[in-house]
This record gives sequence, structure tokens and C-alpha cells, in this order.
Amino acid sequence: MSFSNPSQVSVGIIGCGNIFPAYVRGLRMFRILNLKACADLNPDSAKARAEEFGIESRTINGLLADPTIDLVVNLTVPQAHARVGMDILRAGKHVYSEKPLAIDLDEGAQLLDLARESGLRVGCAPDTFLGAGLQTCRKLIDDGWIGTPTSGTAFMLQAGPESWHPNPAFFYQKGAGPLMDMGPYYVTALVHLLGPVSSVTAVTSAPRRERLATCKEQFGTLLPVEVPTHYSGSLVFASGAVVSMTISFDVHSHRHSPIEIYGSGGSLAVPDPNTFGGPVSVRPAGCKEWGEIPLVHGYPENSRGIGVADMAHAIRSGRPHRCDGALAFHALEVMQAFERSSILGQRVEIARASAQPAAFPLGLLPGVLDE
Ligand SMILES: NC(=O)c1ccc[n+]([C@@H]2O[C@H](COP(=O)([O-])OP(=O)(O)OC[C@H]3O[C@@H](n4cnc5c(N)ncnc54)[C@H](O)[C@@H]3O)[C@@H](O)[C@H]2O)c1
Repeated sequence: MSFSNPSQVSVGIIGCGNIFPAYVRGLRMFRILNLKACADLNPDSAKARAEEFGIESRTINGLLADPTIDLVVNLTVPQAHARVGMDILRAGKHVYSEKPLAIDLDEGAQLLDLARESGLRVGCAPDTFLGAGLQTCRKLIDDGWIGTPTSGTAFMLQAGPESWHPNPAFFYQKGAGPLMDMGPYYVTALVHLLGPVSSVTAVTSAPRRERLATCKEQFGTLLPVEVPTHYSGSLVFASGAVVSMTISFDVHSHRHSPIEIYGSGGSLAVPDPNTFGGPVSVRPAGCKEWGEIPLVHGYPENSRGIGVADMAHAIRSGRPHRCDGALAFHALEVMQAFERSSILGQRVEIARASAQPAAFPLGLLPGVLDE
């Protein structure tokens, strides 16, 4: 494809909802990106967001037909991610999607196949692992601070979104649940730190068949539960490391760290993978206490969109991009393996591995991701 502007990649956004402002702010941090226009199923949402942020609003077809747009960021709801992504690819543009890549493996695979046939890229959130917190953790592991990683734990334990989300029903419908909603952050962070997963053994449960909404907008509404609300399992990595992971909407409080990695030479406490910053702590074997490590990389603040900027640099130079669709497909396969393993009562092998994304080098200039 030829580019409309040789020094920048021009970007459009489809989906102008809640997460849109964070993306606009994030995309504008990077010199390689030129955010031009937005579109939404609801044209009024697109117009309002366009005015708020000083960009152009378009119809969806108008945005897709615009030859000056090189890459489209897909911020629609999960059920529409794959379909909208295919439309973007058919229009000859690269696509970067919010997570999850798709709600099932078949549509995720179709999206990746179409991209390959078309010579276009698919990128996918989360990009939080490109932030200062998880990049610092990766450097500590790569530099041998905890020796060879052998095991770990990952916990995302909450009471569920029905107390605060204005429209919580969809969290309990097919294609959703705590694992599909929050799991991408945890699985992607673990693959970034430890490499690909080779198998999953898990059990799931749904202790309540209905949830009671207590948010002010829907106070007292009963929400039918169609998915497990508690997932607990073991991930075996190709490296041999084993991580116990529990993701749940059935826990009121707990005292676990989000992620800990244990190695032959020490232990590492990893920050919440749904954030870009810290804290990061390490305790080498033989040390009496944990020590907090200063973050050594950039982007400790909310930088959603850094994955888009990395993909834009990669498109220009021909290198792989870090938030690759293949990584998102791998995360989806791992998440789906939890439920399959529970139903089958056995270990599930992961068929499609993904490369461990490259770490960022130290000392990048602000707003530029390639040296
Ligand atoms: N809101 C958050 O804090 C948050 C955080 C991280 C990730 N995400 C992810 O971002 C995505 C969007 O979340 P959100 O909270 O902004 O949702 P939202 O419901 O607020 O907005 C989604 C927007 O997409 C539009 N849309 C839906 N289907 C469409 C289609 N087929 N074509 C064009 N537009 C369509 C809707 O009209 C709506 O304006 C989701 O995948 C979500 O998981 C959201």
C-alpha cells in the first residue's frame, strides 16, 4: 500500500464510546500517528466525539472509503470486533482492535487469514504490557534478577461490575464473563514475560444463576448468568514455567498480588497488568526483604494507543509489531481453553503458539518508539 503522508500513518477510529477519549489522548502522544476522523453506528456519537476532539466525523462507509486513511482503530463492542475488522481489511486498511480479538476462535482465525492474504496487519489490545511497569519487569527477568522463571501466580478477583457499571447485563452474557473481559491483560502480560503457553488445565464455576444489579441506573434488576463467573487453572508455558491463575467476579476482597513470578534465583511482584505503571518489587534469593525497583522505561501513565504507534513504526520499517493479532489469537485460545478444560475434565493443549513480543530498548525519545 502507498501512504498518504510519508512521515506519518493516518488513523481513523470506528467506535466512539467510553474508551474513545483515552485513545485520542494516547494516539496524540506519538509523532508517527495522524488521527484524522471517527465513525460510529450511531452518527450522533461520532459527531459529538469529533467536535469534542477536533477531528472529522464520517459515516462508517465514508471512513473506509477514504484513501488518505492507512490504519483504522476498532473500538466497537467485542461482539462486533471481528466483523468490523474484516470490513476494515476489505477496505485495504490495517486494523488495530480493542480486546478481545474476536469472541470465538473461528472468527479470529478468519480475520488473521484475510489480513495475511491482503498483505495487511492486524494489531490488538491490550497494550498495557508496553508501559513502564511491565517493560521494567521484563528487563529484570531478561537480565537474570530472578534466575530462570519456573512458576508464578496471577489473580484478578472482583465482586463483579454490577455495582458500578451503568449497563452490566452484557458482562454475564455469552462471549463475556470475567475471563474474556479481564483475562486478555493477564494472559498477554504473562506471555510477554514468559513466552507462549503450551497447555491449560482448569475448572470454572458459576455460583449464582442471576446477579443483582446495585448500580444506580439499574438498581434491583436481576441479570441472568450465561457464563462461568469464576475461572481457576494452571498454565504450562513452552519454557516449562507453570502459573496458577484465577479470574473471578465472585470475590469481595483478597490480599493477593496481581501477578508474581518465581524463579531459580528470586521472586518478582508484577503490577496490575491493566495499568501502565508500577509498583515493581523484587526479592532475590537470600535477600531478607522485597525491594521496590524504579521504573526504567517510559510510559508509566495511561498510554492506550501505544500499541497502535508501535504498529505504525513496524509497518513503516517492516519489523514485527508487538501487539500482534497472532498474540491476541493465542490469548483468546488460552482463555477459551479454561472452559473447555473444565467441561472435558482434562488438560487442553494450545494449538497456535505466538512469538514472545520483543522488549522495548531503554532510552527511547518521548513520542518515538523506534531508535
Ligand atoms: N470502557 C473502558 O474502560 C474500556 C477499557 C479497556 C477496553 N475497553 C474495550 O473497548 C471496547 C469498547 O468499549 P467501550 O467501553 O468504549 O464501549 P461502548 O459501548 O461505550 O462504545 C462502543 C461504541 O461502538 C459502537 N459500535 C458498536 N457496534 C458497532 C459497529 N458494528 N460498527 C460501528 N460502531 C459500533 C457503539 O455505537 C458505541 O458507540 C470494548 O472492546 C471494551 O472491551 C473498554
